Amino acid sequence: MTNLTTVILAAGLGKRMKSDLPKALQKVSGRPMIKHVIDLAKKVHRGRVVCVLGHGREQIIEEIGAENIIKNPEITGMHRGVYIAVQEQQLGTGHAARCAEDLFGSDDGDVVILFGDTPLITESTLESFVSVHDMGFHQASLISFIADDPSGFGRIIRDEKGRFVKIVEEKDASPKERQIKEVNSGVGIFKTGTLKKMLAELDSDNAQNEYMLTDVFEKVIAAGGTIGVHTAKDPSEMMGVNDKYALQTAEEIHQKRIKKDLMEAGVTFRLPETTMVDPSARIKPGAVIEQGCRIMGYTTIESDAEIGPNSEIIDSTIGPRTVVRQSVIESSYIDEDCNIGPFAYIRPGSNVDDGCRIGNFVEVKNSQISTGTKISHLSYIGDADLGENVNIGAGTVVVNYDGKQKHKSSIGSKTFVGCNSSIVSPVNIGEGCFIAAGSTITEDMDDNMFAKSRTAQQTVPNKFKE
Ligand code: UD1
Ligand code: CA
Repeated sequence: MTNLTTVILAAGLGKRMKSDLPKALQKVSGRPMIKHVIDLAKKVHRGRVVCVLGHGREQIIEEIGAENIIKNPEITGMHRGVYIAVQEQQLGTGHAARCAEDLFGSDDGDVVILFGDTPLITESTLESFVSVHDMGFHQASLISFIADDPSGFGRIIRDEKGRFVKIVEEKDASPKERQIKEVNSGVGIFKTGTLKKMLAELDSDNAQNEYMLTDVFEKVIAAGGTIGVHTAKDPSEMMGVNDKYALQTAEEIHQKRIKKDLMEAGVTFRLPETTMVDPSARIKPGAVIEQGCRIMGYTTIESDAEIGPNSEIIDSTIGPRTVVRQSVIESSYIDEDCNIGPFAYIRPGSNVDDGCRIGNFVEVKNSQISTGTKISHLSYIGDADLGENVNIGAGTVVVNYDGKQKHKSSIGSKTFVGCNSSIVSPVNIGEGCFIAAGSTITEDMDDNMFAKSRTAQQTVPNKFKE
């Protein structure tokens, strides 16, 4: 197909969400709905992608791309390969489409219209819809579906021979029309010239006083044209997300789909409905995800890793055979054969090499932990560089903050840090050292040194005894 433009309508207020967040930014599987639709458009189409924004557009633009190359802020701009058209007042879907008219391209092309609140459509459904239309029989095509509960959707009216006649919105429908279960998904494709002409002819003579895109189809027929109606095989792809209940239903459907694909590829999920997986995450065959996990952002879980129960992994890599139980890991890299948790918190910027143990109630932040090092219980390691096979005793704290600035420390390979020690940064502790329990270390130590810094024990008769 030559000259195909995709227009995503997302200027609506989303009143039914009862939220300050623009509807397009409500999240499904951790990703704003409009991003799902933009990603779909970019996957399927060869041409330009335009978003029509209105309500909360600054916030949406910020979210969909940091690049800010608005050509003319009043009318259009472009962000990360997505063009922006502005609809100042939300006068209906037909009016919204018209706001993008300058970006439609030449009249002999085609325009696909998608809605920002329809995030579940799959690539294969849209791809086949576009290619069938491309065969060139119709001036416009739409995707309909059979809804168990059609309320809220525009009903598809057909004549006695089953041919498409028009779409009637719920508010304009007669009681009999309301019983029709075949509804409009909102996905349409139009010959560009025809769309421009028909949009110019729309009026707002309906129950909502809106310029409705759906009226274009009736006008095409009145002008002697034909409409291709494709009935979706899987109605769940077509749901429009108008309120919080639909939002969570959409998330359930989307999550089921992600986890089904992963399970078919060889990932084990226990009680999968309790775990959330971001569409950007990669989980390799052989990994096991126990119940109650959140695998978010650009996370990679390698083969035979075991995550959970109840763990949250964000933008991190977990190496092969590493076990993470009841823990939170953020923007960090954990290599193979590590044992993390229960109840560990690994904060951004940490790199844990193979065979390490980060145990219960251990917090690690922005630190390097080298091969075979063990921090088994109740410790805080912040802004530190630990060598190989270091042993950190329970209750050790790297004191990295003096109230004004953060400082760094290093602890050399094979050093043993006794329980309840404070390493007051900045200090450099050499390899093979031994720090006695309860020490406060404020000075550097050369390799193979012993340090003990605590007051001597006094033992006298107990005068407090009753
Ligand atoms: C719309 C369709 C309906 C269809 C349903 C499918 C119309 C008139 N109705 O109804 O036939 O069954 O979707 O989910 O098209 N928008 C704008 N500017 C506006 C109004 C809306 O950009 O002035 C955007 C919204 O942000 C949203 C989309 O268009 O992303 C659809 O609008 P919405 O108000 O949700 O339409 P529905 O009532 O769901
Ligand atoms: Ca809607």
